[in-house]
Amino acid sequence: MRSYKAKSVTSIQLLPRERRETALAEAGHNVFNLAAEDVFIDLLTDSGTGAMSDDQWADVVRGDEAYAGSRSFKRFRETVADVIGFDRVVPTHQGRGAENVLFGALLDEGDVVLNNTHFDTTRAHVTNQGATAVDCPAETDLTTDSVGTFAGNFATERGWDAVEEYGQDAVSAVVLTITNNSAAGQPVSMANIRETAAFATEIDATFVIDACRFAENAQFIKQRDPEYADTPLSEIAREQLRPADAITMSGKKDALANIGGFTAVRDTSLFEQCKQRAILYEGFPTYGGLAGRDLEAMATGLREAVQPPYVAERIEQVATLGDLLRERDIPIVTPTGGHAVYIDAAALLPDIPADQFPGQRLVCELYREGGVRTVELGSFAFPGTDRPELVRLALPRRTYWREHLEHIAETAARVRDRRDEYTGLKIVWEPPMEELRHFSAELEPAA
Ligand code: F0G
Repeated sequence: MRSYKAKSVTSIQLLPRERRETALAEAGHNVFNLAAEDVFIDLLTDSGTGAMSDDQWADVVRGDEAYAGSRSFKRFRETVADVIGFDRVVPTHQGRGAENVLFGALLDEGDVVLNNTHFDTTRAHVTNQGATAVDCPAETDLTTDSVGTFAGNFATERGWDAVEEYGQDAVSAVVLTITNNSAAGQPVSMANIRETAAFATEIDATFVIDACRFAENAQFIKQRDPEYADTPLSEIAREQLRPADAITMSGKKDALANIGGFTAVRDTSLFEQCKQRAILYEGFPTYGGLAGRDLEAMATGLREAVQPPYVAERIEQVATLGDLLRERDIPIVTPTGGHAVYIDAAALLPDIPADQFPGQRLVCELYREGGVRTVELGSFAFPGTDRPELVRLALPRRTYWREHLEHIAETAARVRDRRDEYTGLKIVWEPPMEELRHFSAELEPAA
């Protein structure tokens, strides 16, 4: 049951099939190139695409647009201290702005960064500083049923392997992404957070948490770790971030805002460095590339994100989409994660060879069949890695209803029924930076 009702709505329409066919061809078989108005149900991302509350909108109007020292910044800073547990915060235009500000201050050329799994922009920002990004996921087989209770965890034994390989001095930061977006949105346990923090301390590395989906992770800890069953969600949310030396955050996720982000740190000299980088790349450190109204929306959203009904319904809606797909025998990663359902495209389209992007073919067919936009997070998005061919169906927050979920599941079932008709795809144009190719590359059917 939803603990909110709609007061403002946006019209959406399912274009006729021929128009979807044309749109897909014109987009070069890359759904990032589609016009949003040509999409019926948009599961491209959960980032900045959710519905804001009336309280958030009211605070938007109250935003103080002073260049320096605005009232909105003060309220934002106090909220971050209270909800997140960090006193030193630098706002940024979004999460990758936070990555740029923090990693620029932390990393030197030749450094190594370990992460349970780097998200694409995180990896690109590490690389952009001349450092090497190494993934240390605890769970690598994400295509089977029952991947585990906390399948987003960091594998410290892999961390030690990396220390051995690159040398302890090179490993300057250990990052924990909660929940683990690139690992099917799976959560990270409190025990693993502590273990990873201890590992980082032992090798004298800075311990960073990518806290984009901190509220969703806290909800999983509450549900799955008996020790926390009776602890208030807001306390779990803070406690899981306590061991971190620094965090990066996208306000477009668990701050329930359309834009925004921040980095927060404990150390005063790191804070100074971050502020200076913010001035260079984002804006004065009391606005960081945002309007005062955006800081207001994030402040209110951070509090709403740790309200028990909100986050319980959020996780439950994702699980419902997973159930509807499973009822139709669509192979998905289970249990479902926090913000999205991940389909195993290699299992759904077994006749498409691995080097012809079965995941991207599935993305195209979900759009062609039902106007549903999703995203490939397999070999197209992560070239050169041996990741499973996953397609992500990310649910924007507080946006779609059960009827939409049923349409999505029906669409996937129709795609499955027609799978003999599909060929693979080949890339016909790609941008220079390989890490970012899936955003703009163009493809066509392979012969
Ligand atoms: N870290 C993680 C784990 C993310 O999922 C994202 C964004 C970022 C950092 C960067 O934040 O977009 O505000 O700059 N993820 C979105 C997604 C884009 O669709 O998963 P941003």
